[in-house]
Amino acid sequence: MEHIYTLAIESSCDETSAAVLQDGRQVLSNVISSQVPIHQKFGGVVPEIASRHHIEQVIPIVDQALTDANLTLADIDHIGVTYGPGLVGSLLVGVAAAKGLAFATDKPLIGVHHMEGHIFANFLIHPELEPPFLSLVVSGGHTMLVVVKDYETYEVLGQTRDDAAGEAFDKIARVLGYPYPGGPQIEKVGTTGDPHAIEFPKALQEKGNFEFSFSGLKSAVLNYINNERQKGNEINEPDVAASFQQSIIDVLVHKTKEAAHASGQTKITLAGGVSANKHLQAALKAMCEEEGFTFYEPSNILATDNAAMIGCRAYYMAKAGKFTDLYLNAKPSIPLGVQATVRDVK
Ligand code: KG4
Ligand code: ZN
Repeated sequence: MEHIYTLAIESSCDETSAAVLQDGRQVLSNVISSQVPIHQKFGGVVPEIASRHHIEQVIPIVDQALTDANLTLADIDHIGVTYGPGLVGSLLVGVAAAKGLAFATDKPLIGVHHMEGHIFANFLIHPELEPPFLSLVVSGGHTMLVVVKDYETYEVLGQTRDDAAGEAFDKIARVLGYPYPGGPQIEKVGTTGDPHAIEFPKALQEKGNFEFSFSGLKSAVLNYINNERQKGNEINEPDVAASFQQSIIDVLVHKTKEAAHASGQTKITLAGGVSANKHLQAALKAMCEEEGFTFYEPSNILATDNAAMIGCRAYYMAKAGKFTDLYLNAKPSIPLGVQATVRDVK
């Protein structure tokens, strides 16, 4: 049987990545160039600097991905690229590179939704996974519960009204003086802390509400830190980190459980950068065992931004005939399930 080879590019935030996939689910290469050390001294991603680094990196990274896969551009069947959501200047670099390659080689182009890519990372980790399932998607920009009905149909049950889960981690870490990105730091510091030392608020806990809100929690943690500092008390950072993290995890796990029952889903997946959090993974796993659900564990390398997940989504979009043309443009925000069509991009 002839194989289908997908080349994918991801540049929505501060990772430049290119990947080659065989038949949608087999990762032949997944090259990731992270800019984290560059942005760390600013305490967050500086969009202009990110774009410039993407420009420098994108073509060498694509070359590397092809070399690692032992293929040339001529072997590639189609090119997938993240066109949103994300930082527009960052997205533009990947989109321009993909369009250039598609034009030069006359290969079909596919515009991929970054968050759909995160969900599709699960198909790479779990070859046996098939829709339908419920996905908890938690990243630096998004927090949502999505029913993946089939490869092309998604129902968003709820999203965040304000901060995303990862954003809350990053903001609290910043106040505590930890380097960017804050999530892994909070997790590390919290390891020796008591997750029940401080009771922080958990918003929107009423039944049937699948929306999230983390701004109240963020304010409560900031108030706690300021009050303690004003009183001249030493802040127990491990306790603050562990208790803050526990509040987020409690909300995420509770809502996932309720959403699974309400939507009748018994398979649960976890996606996005925050899915690297071991405590979140363990809490979801325990809940799934109690409720009789099947939990599909994430993998760290495929949790943070990478092009392999974009390639997997692109492969299924190609199967469904969802190609785009060279008018494809970067879009900072797009709802899930919306395709980059000709009309959409003009
Ligand atoms: O998906 P991602 O790589 O980029 C976006 O699309 O946003 O997610 C990055 C986010 C950051 O906010 C980072 O702090 C968070 O994921 N993150 C974590 C952990 N590792 C990364 N949050 C909590 N615990 C972690 N171990
Ligand atoms: Zn992401």
